[in-house]
Amino acid sequence: MDQSDGWNRMKVLVACEFSGAVRDAFIANGHDAMSCDLLPTDVPGPHYEGDVLDILGNGWDIMIAHPPCTHLAVSGARWFKDKVEEQKEALEFVKLLLDAPIPKIALENPISIISSKIRKPDQIVQPWQFGHGETKATCLWLKNLPKLVPTDIVDGREPKVHMLPPSADRWKLRSLTYSGIAKAMADQWGGSGE
Ligand SMILES: C[S@@+](CC[C@H](N)C(=O)[O-])C[C@H]1O[C@@H](n2cnc3c(N)ncnc32)[C@H](O)[C@@H]1O
Repeated sequence: MDQSDGWNRMKVLVACEFSGAVRDAFIANGHDAMSCDLLPTDVPGPHYEGDVLDILGNGWDIMIAHPPCTHLAVSGARWFKDKVEEQKEALEFVKLLLDAPIPKIALENPISIISSKIRKPDQIVQPWQFGHGETKATCLWLKNLPKLVPTDIVDGREPKVHMLPPSADRWKLRSLTYSGIAKAMADQWGGSGE
C-alpha cells in the first residue's frame, strides 16, 4: 500500500520494551518502528538501548509505552509505605511519557496508582479478549487513539502469569506484552495515519 491508498507509514516509538513484541507487530504492518529500553532487545531489530526520555522529541507519530509498574501496581500495595520516593519518581516518569510531544500515545500498566494520582485509564483490556486464554487486567491511557476492539474472545479466565514459579527472569516473563494485544495495537492504531 502507499499513501494514495490513505495509508501512512508511521514513525513508531515503543518505549520501555525489550521483547520487541509491539515493535515487530508494527514493522510487520510496514511501519518504521523502534523499541527503546535500558536493557538490550531480546529479539534483533531496531532498538535504542538507553533512556527513552532522551529520544521523546525525535519526531514520532505514535508512542506505545510500557513503563515499569514495580512501584505503582496495586498488587504491591502492602509495600507502598516503604517506597514513597520510588513511587514519586515512577509517577513523574509516567507523567513525562503522557506529556511527550507525540500526537498519539498509549501508555500501558496494570491496575495501578496512576488511576488515583494522575487519571483513570481510558480502557482496561484482558488477554482473553485477544486470543490468550488467561486474565491479566491491563489498563490503557490513550491520547488521540481509539479504544482497542477485542479481536478473538476465547475461554480461559485464569491469571497464569501470576502463577509463574520464582526465577531470575520471572519479572521479565510477567511483563511481556501478549502477541495478540501487540497485533491488535498495530492493526488498529497503525491503519490510516490520519
Ligand atoms: C514492565 S517492563 C515492560 C516490558 C515490555 N512489556 C516488553 O514486552 O518488553 C518495563 C521496562 O521499562 C524499562 N525502563 C525503565 N526505565 C526506562 C527508561 N528511562 N528508558 C527506557 N526504558 C526504561 C525497564 O528496563 C523494563 O524493561
